[in-house]
Amino acid sequence: MTTAEVRRLDPSELLGLAADLRAVYARAFERPPWHEPDHKADDYLARLRSDVARPGFTAVAALDTCGRPVGFATAWTTPRLFPSDRCHPYARKALGDGATRELLCGAREIDELAVHPDHQRKGIGAALLEAVSADAPGGRCWLFTAAAAGGPMDFYLRLGWQPVTRPAPHPAGVLVLLGPRHPGADVATRRVALVGATQ
Ligand SMILES: CC(C)(COP(=O)(O)OP(=O)(O)OC[C@H]1O[C@@H](n2cnc3c(N)ncnc32)[C@H](O)[C@@H]1OP(=O)(O)O)[C@@H](O)C(=O)NCCC(=O)NCCS
Repeated sequence: MTTAEVRRLDPSELLGLAADLRAVYARAFERPPWHEPDHKADDYLARLRSDVARPGFTAVAALDTCGRPVGFATAWTTPRLFPSDRCHPYARKALGDGATRELLCGAREIDELAVHPDHQRKGIGAALLEAVSADAPGGRCWLFTAAAAGGPMDFYLRLGWQPVTRPAPHPAGVLVLLGPRHPGADVATRRVALVGATQ
């Protein structure tokens, strides 16, 4: 059962909680399989300050009784001109240009999801993911994650998210998941299974 209030935040509310969001990020991502050093949380905050201006930017947070975030999720609309930063080139290569356009462009891309370790396994991550993706146009939602053991794959699979690429050799283990209401999920998942079976 969720023990925190999960709600949408506008950019100014979100950035007003920057110090707490930084702490949640640092604690959530210092653990396996991420092993991120503490300074990566500063990099994240710097990104967040410009990400709030992206088209379709959406943020939700789980707030404790004092109004402090114990978890958060952010998302935006993937541009028609598919990005070439971070893990995007891998997604494009794995899916091909046509499927990238069809499945990912114009869809809601979940960028980050983090729950403070002291508050995990209480349903907060599931509530955040639902809140940040619920009103995605046409149900089209997607994200990158890592398939590594001890990571969030079990969480996403349990919530009906579907892998549509195989784990990448580089960045190691990264793959693309489509949300449970994405109209392309079944077809794309069957295609991945078929590719896997013939390799
Ligand atoms: C992934 C994460 C957001 C999940 O948050 P959470 O609040 O613990 O998740 P929930 O309590 O809503 O979990 C829902 C279900 O997912 C599954 N699940 C969640 N965490 C799991 C884990 N570590 N191992 C296996 N299954 C897990 C369980 O089936 C769980 O239901 P249950 O507790 O009744 O068995 C959290 O572990 C986290 O912040 N991890 C570090 C950052 C991260 O990996 N973010 C995602 C990047 S793509």
